Amino acid sequence: MDVQFKEPERQMGKLPAGKRSGIDTSYLLMHKNIPVAEIVLDTVTGGILRITGSLNLEHLPVGVRIRRGIVDRQRLNDWWISRSIPAGRSGVRQALETLKVATPQMLLTKCFGLSLSDQYWIRPKDEKLEWREINFFDNPFSEDIGDILLGKPVHKEALDLRSPDNTSDGFLKKRWKILNGELCLIKAGSPPFMQQPFNEAIASALFRRLCIPHVPYTVLWDDGIPYSVCGDFITRDTELVSAWRVMQTRKRPNNISVYRHFINCCEALGVPEIVHGVDQMIVADYILANEDRHLNNFGVIRDANTLKMLGFAPIYDSGSSLGYDKLASQIRSGVGMECKPFKKSHEEQLKLVTDFSWIDFKALDGITAEARNILSGAGEYVDAARLDAIVSAMRRRIEKVYALSPTTGKGSGDDLRGDVEEDIAADYSESN
Ligand SMILES: Nc1ncnc2c1ncn2[C@@H]1O[C@H](COP(=O)(O)OP(=O)(O)OP(=O)(O)O)[C@@H](O)[C@H]1O
Ligand SMILES: [Mg+2]
Repeated sequence: MDVQFKEPERQMGKLPAGKRSGIDTSYLLMHKNIPVAEIVLDTVTGGILRITGSLNLEHLPVGVRIRRGIVDRQRLNDWWISRSIPAGRSGVRQALETLKVATPQMLLTKCFGLSLSDQYWIRPKDEKLEWREINFFDNPFSEDIGDILLGKPVHKEALDLRSPDNTSDGFLKKRWKILNGELCLIKAGSPPFMQQPFNEAIASALFRRLCIPHVPYTVLWDDGIPYSVCGDFITRDTELVSAWRVMQTRKRPNNISVYRHFINCCEALGVPEIVHGVDQMIVADYILANEDRHLNNFGVIRDANTLKMLGFAPIYDSGSSLGYDKLASQIRSGVGMECKPFKKSHEEQLKLVTDFSWIDFKALDGITAEARNILSGAGEYVDAARLDAIVSAMRRRIEKVYALSPTTGKGSGDDLRGDVEEDIAADYSESN
């Protein structure tokens, strides 16, 4: 297919065609309606070449430092580049080939850097665009990028690249779509077991029973492939700030654990009830044997207008759990199970929990039967032996938490022993 692109300006129907030369790469970094800084983008790499003006720096992305009144360009550029689709995302190579685009960063400007997880965007300098006219919370977006990312055939002469899929993070294939009038994130699993969508549904059941604030996921089949579906938990007035960004706000002293550093940063930023939120996440991740709770898989919510921190984000992305990539025998033995984000072992991480008293174990009666029921929907992807192994390992882990709960719960693991040294997300790129 020979692909042409519609210019985003013209798609919006707002800007006269040809007004910009294409050489002019100056933009305003915007936070909703507030100009934050003037930047110049490199037309080849898509990165931030220069910062030419500082406007409302209190609205900079969390974790971008200002030194003697000057914005740290490296940090701002890291943040900007991390808005693009990760190069290791499953299927991204083929998508870039179809799009005839060299790198995912080059897609950022096609949608003004807009996202459905926060409220930042870039406005070509001297243009009169307003956030309300273009944000994806209130305005429609193209399905072309989503189709291409999911490997669906797109039979069109001119592709419309204005999509929040250009700024979505994560390694699994995914797309945003409006389903029944709701903004939804649709996400695949990874071969061979395609277990993540079912795991997300099981995790939702666990969170619901334990009254843990969470993003509810359901399973959707399309063309014989299972996907998870969840609604957008961000609104036009809020934004997700990942734990990674939170932890960039202060330097971590050598004698401070990853866990303590996260809590300290949250407390300094004024995030309410953070310890309880983290306690709940650690317990749930233990029960689910989650292996990929890296620092971009949890975070805090900020009011995008007032900049006030509202609290720990509802738990999302729990799919890389329940032995999603392991053999049944490994699931049974529990050997080789990874743990993130604080400790390298789930047992060690559980010691960080300060309070177990909120756990209503009665509410977990029947959870393994519910998990079995959800997973049996996976059909040929999850056979009977695998299903048995998953369910009995989950039961064992619940029993372990039950046994521990009256005796511990003082955060006794809050030191450097067994700390995770590097934060790396699970990589599914072999399944490209
Ligand atoms: N329901 C949602 N509403 C708003 N933003 C979301 C939602 N779910 C995920 N996100 C954002 O999209 C990113 C990618 O989603 P998610 O973590 O589910 O993908 P993933 O491919 O499973 O990630 P990973 O690489 O960690 O496996 C998240 O890190 C978060 O920033
Ligand atoms: Mg993720």
